Amino acid sequence: MGNFINKSILIVDDIPTNIKILFEILNHYGFRVSVAKSGQSALEKIKESLPNLILLDVMMPGMDGFETCHRLKADPKTKDIPVIFMTALSDSVNKIKGLKLGAVDYITKPFETEEVLARINVHLELQQTQMKLVQEEKMSSLGQLVAGIAHEINNPVNFIYGNLIHAQNYITHLLELLSLYENHTNQVIPEIKAYSDEIDLDFIKQDLPRLLSSMAIGTERVEKIVRSLRLFSRLDNTTFQLFDIHEGIDSTLMILSHRLKATPKRPAINIVKNYEKSALVECYSGQINQVFMNLLANAIDAIEESILNHQIPDIPTISIHTTVLDDKKAVLIEIADNGIGISEEAQQKMFEQFFTTKPIGKGTGLGLAIAHEIIVEKHQGTLEVKSSPGEGAKFIITMPIQQTIITKNVMDNMG
Ligand SMILES: Nc1ncnc2c1ncn2[C@@H]1O[C@H](COP(=O)(O)OP(=O)(O)OP(=O)(O)O)[C@@H](O)[C@H]1O
Ligand SMILES: [Mg+2]
Repeated sequence: MGNFINKSILIVDDIPTNIKILFEILNHYGFRVSVAKSGQSALEKIKESLPNLILLDVMMPGMDGFETCHRLKADPKTKDIPVIFMTALSDSVNKIKGLKLGAVDYITKPFETEEVLARINVHLELQQTQMKLVQEEKMSSLGQLVAGIAHEINNPVNFIYGNLIHAQNYITHLLELLSLYENHTNQVIPEIKAYSDEIDLDFIKQDLPRLLSSMAIGTERVEKIVRSLRLFSRLDNTTFQLFDIHEGIDSTLMILSHRLKATPKRPAINIVKNYEKSALVECYSGQINQVFMNLLANAIDAIEESILNHQIPDIPTISIHTTVLDDKKAVLIEIADNGIGISEEAQQKMFEQFFTTKPIGKGTGLGLAIAHEIIVEKHQGTLEVKSSPGEGAKFIITMPIQQTIITKNVMDNMG
């Protein structure tokens, strides 16, 4: 069975004894339980905070369980919460009707503790796996897309970049040849004079080398972008590899660069980097990039929200600081923003799956849960936050520089 401590369950039932029995069982096993005595009040309660699962009685005065379920499934915000119906043992008509309405399962009254727990756990686990798959699929198709584009751009850029040096040489030679001609004949040929005036030969001679070197700088830049894209999209998640976390952060910033630029609504977001020493870390690089992506995207969102709320920070800034910790066994990575900040209450919940304060379609509430899993479980590190509302937020990662064989085995055993 998975670890479901802290998962929240909403019980919807009008009969106090039912509520009492379920409440005691679930509370005893570490779930956070809340209660609604009617369908209407369940829908109200859900507006405040989304439970991980709902236990829903069929027969209730007013809005019955079916109608409640129907409304839950019709609302994009609540449609993915697993609903388990509670019915009488023999009531197969209602069981079927409930399942058809989108419930995932039913439990029968009188309640059997073991059965209730088993069914709840199955559905919580299933939901967790499903969301993870969706997220992984998104990441991996993004990775593939990015890798594909990078590859396509790489070839033509190499034609230009590779030939530019030769073009530069040839042009230098031609210009030298031209001045040789000029030095060795005193004769002025009117047609040549007219033409060289027409094309402003003197200017061309000055400008051509400058033009070529700025083309070289441009293609170098494109090459760098392509390199970042390839680095970012490395999909090697099966073995630990030595990875320069600074390259990881830089390539992630490159991917996000369009979101850092000034818009009509706000100035550009300033990035302040303070990288101490180079930091090669043994890790799953693709996953670590995903952590950087999730944290940096949140920081940008937080800054944009503070501007929307007219709490405009002086200069919107994301500061990134890295250092190797004293004993050289771990790295510290801090990502701080001067955005909206995070309330004490939200800090308690924000590493949980599906906790989001962003509008539907914008946030799924998975970014930090995934980052936490990657850092803490997959890399034996820590991920913490320091923040207060209006003061911005700072996320602090520490992770070991070397993943020891022992930890690897332990992790394999943990699945
Ligand atoms: N840097 C930050 N500043 C302020 N609030 C933050 C910051 N990072 C996270 N939060 C808060 O934590 C919540 C959860 O973050 P998380 O990344 O898990 O989900 P999300 O950003 O809402 O959605 P998703 O990342 O799945 O698109 C956010 O909705 C926001 O309220
Ligand atoms: Mg996020």
